[in-house]
Amino acid sequence: MSRKPAHTDSEYTFKLFRLDPEKAQEPCYDTYRIGFPQGTTVLEALLHIQEKEDDSIAFRFSCRSAVCGSCGMLVNGAPVLACRTQLSSLIGDQVLVEPLPNMEVIKDFIVDTTPFWKSYRMVEPWLHTDGQPVPEKERLQSPREVHKLEPYINCVLCACCFGACPVIGFDEEYIGPAAIAKLFRFMRDSRDRRGTAFLERVNRRAGVWNCRTIFRCIDACPKDIRPTDTIEALRREMVLYRFKKFFRLVR
Ligand code: FES
Repeated sequence: MSRKPAHTDSEYTFKLFRLDPEKAQEPCYDTYRIGFPQGTTVLEALLHIQEKEDDSIAFRFSCRSAVCGSCGMLVNGAPVLACRTQLSSLIGDQVLVEPLPNMEVIKDFIVDTTPFWKSYRMVEPWLHTDGQPVPEKERLQSPREVHKLEPYINCVLCACCFGACPVIGFDEEYIGPAAIAKLFRFMRDSRDRRGTAFLERVNRRAGVWNCRTIFRCIDACPKDIRPTDTIEALRREMVLYRFKKFFRLVR
């Protein structure tokens, strides 16, 4: 099953997870040995295999430039964006491609992201303006205020951190790293008026308290966001808020 494109530089053995739950209960793996030029990404390799070898292989993609977040999958056991991962960046010539864990497989590398979006909606990921009048133009921020948000605003909602999180593997109620990082981003936003009391929403075992600080979400994030840090920060804020509430320093 090997068909080489022009200007081949290196050969790779692709082992692709295949599962169509409507037809089979157990997955199987298809193997292809194909050469690709330097700079080829995993997504480009999959598109080539889909076009030349087997058009039934299913995966999501759209932007091909690490912006839409739709091509998250496991490559050699690591959650990555396939469009951002060059074959040459992998160790060796073996390329094992599997779907993201912690979500049901719809077909091959396409997973049902419903639990991810359910968690995401739970933190109300939009600006809470507390009834303030809508300005004629925009709600301005100072460069300093924007700078404070910058480490957290690049999330592309790829669910790589959700798939990487070992806690979600044994507690499907756990809200997960992406939603908490998003909540932190809004609570740091100078335009947001939701206040610390909103933290009560994640003040539960399946909220900020179930994280075991294993840092897999940090390793997985293709945009270098550090969800574990935001979980720790919200935990500290929660404790401080409770303390102040106990002594009636806040309402
Ligand atoms: Fe859009 Fe990969 S195709 S992030």
